[in-house]
Amino acid sequence: MSQADRDLIFSPFEFRRLRIKNRLVRSSISGTWDHYDGHGTDARVNWEESFAAGGVGAIISSFTPVTVRGRILPRYAMIDDDDKIPFWRRVGERVHRHDCKFILQLSHSGRQQDVGGVENLHRLAKSSTGRKDYFHGILCEPMTRADIHATVQQFAAGARRAREAGLDGVELHGANGYLITQFLSSGINDRRDEYGGDVAGRARFVLEIVRAIRATVGRDFHLQMKINAVDDNNWLYPLEGRGNLVEDTVEICKILEDGGDGVDAFHVSSGSTFPHPRNPPGEFPVAEAIRWYDGMLSSGVRAGLNYAIFRNRLLGAAFERYWAHRRGKVIEGINADHARYIRARVNVPVLVTGGFQRAPAIAEAIRSGACDAVTIARPLIANRDLPAILQTRDEPERPCTYCNKCLLNDLENPLGCYELSRFPGDTFEEKYDHMMEQVMAVFHPRDEAGALERLDEREVAE
Ligand SMILES: Cc1cc2nc3c(=O)[nH]c(=O)nc-3n(C[C@H](O)[C@H](O)[C@H](O)COP(=O)(O)O)c2cc1C
Ligand code: SF4
Repeated sequence: MSQADRDLIFSPFEFRRLRIKNRLVRSSISGTWDHYDGHGTDARVNWEESFAAGGVGAIISSFTPVTVRGRILPRYAMIDDDDKIPFWRRVGERVHRHDCKFILQLSHSGRQQDVGGVENLHRLAKSSTGRKDYFHGILCEPMTRADIHATVQQFAAGARRAREAGLDGVELHGANGYLITQFLSSGINDRRDEYGGDVAGRARFVLEIVRAIRATVGRDFHLQMKINAVDDNNWLYPLEGRGNLVEDTVEICKILEDGGDGVDAFHVSSGSTFPHPRNPPGEFPVAEAIRWYDGMLSSGVRAGLNYAIFRNRLLGAAFERYWAHRRGKVIEGINADHARYIRARVNVPVLVTGGFQRAPAIAEAIRSGACDAVTIARPLIANRDLPAILQTRDEPERPCTYCNKCLLNDLENPLGCYELSRFPGDTFEEKYDHMMEQVMAVFHPRDEAGALERLDEREVAE
């Protein structure tokens, strides 16, 4: 790897109110580690700390609901109450030990709930619209003004809790089909009141969130937003509206900068559903999808149809091919061109997600003005020490293959890399054992000498 690339990737970066030690940021990666009521567990602390120890400059938490009505799956740690502050303080302290920053992703599912949990079972999800989500067919109702006002306050309270927990900032999850996207997207938002219509109307909800957060935590707390460059909302059904184009997104970003008092950075993604062929960019492994879907068959009125398609040998294979076709050829840096377009037109830094794994591609994205730093999810699941690897090599020896098996195991199994071919061993059994050792490590981390390290014992020792 060239010295120039290395210098660029490992140079520090300063946002308006936050400094990170390099240009590698861990993107959000959800996992069902936590208690049903949204209290966090040691496994999540270990999970987050393992990336900090691997050398990234900052970590963005996984999807963190600001209210139980906004969760996508049970067993995700939440930020819906002051009683969650001590847990997040502990996560922050662990991550800070490694000179790594921690940004909490404030989130609300809206109608995009995989398994909403018992609190949401007999209630319609809240959205900008009363139209069901077209992928899983999850039913919903449009939010009233009172709902909107309450939700805005929940986001502001989430930001206050993150600050009180000593975290370094918050990210609004405004991408990938969740509640904020449901307001922003012209393909989804069909409201006729002041929260719908043109770009300014569709952005009103999130602008109110930004202002409520600023009114609560002041101007010195880092606030960034994950946003779709493009929605590609018609990827599955061509008659659905296309949703926002990159020009619409630029307009939205300018509104959210709010004359310099608003958002401090944008984190560019794409795709108005999750998952989406553009996000995470890679394969759609139908065998894993069947296991994912049997757990959410009763969640939406279209899940049964999708399940039948995935189970059918021919239709399942056709879906896999269609998925790859809708994604296109590029995986690494899939959002880079859009990010460059946005960055040239806004006044705040830009992060970009999507496939980054090799030093030359990361350096090129920064050098060409696509972004100020890249965010990485799956290649870091595969290789926690990716930052150390990129200090000396262009790419890891056992790279992430973008197979997306990690994602589709997520509903039922502990989050981790499930690509058997990446693990050493001559037989299936040997490889499987190595894979399980890595997946389960989060429950029993090892110290630098390789000894088992029980978190509770460490805490007692402190
Ligand atoms: C298992 C898994 C869980 C994810 N969870 C979240 C999430 O909670 N919030 C979010 O904004 N993105 C989430 N993502 C998307 C990633 O943050 C990232 O933007 C995307 O995977 C593209 O980056 P990558 O190619 O480096 O994986 C998730 C991705 C994966 C694979
Ligand atoms: S399962 Fe492993 S190789 Fe496949 S996308 Fe996830 S991290 Fe990458």
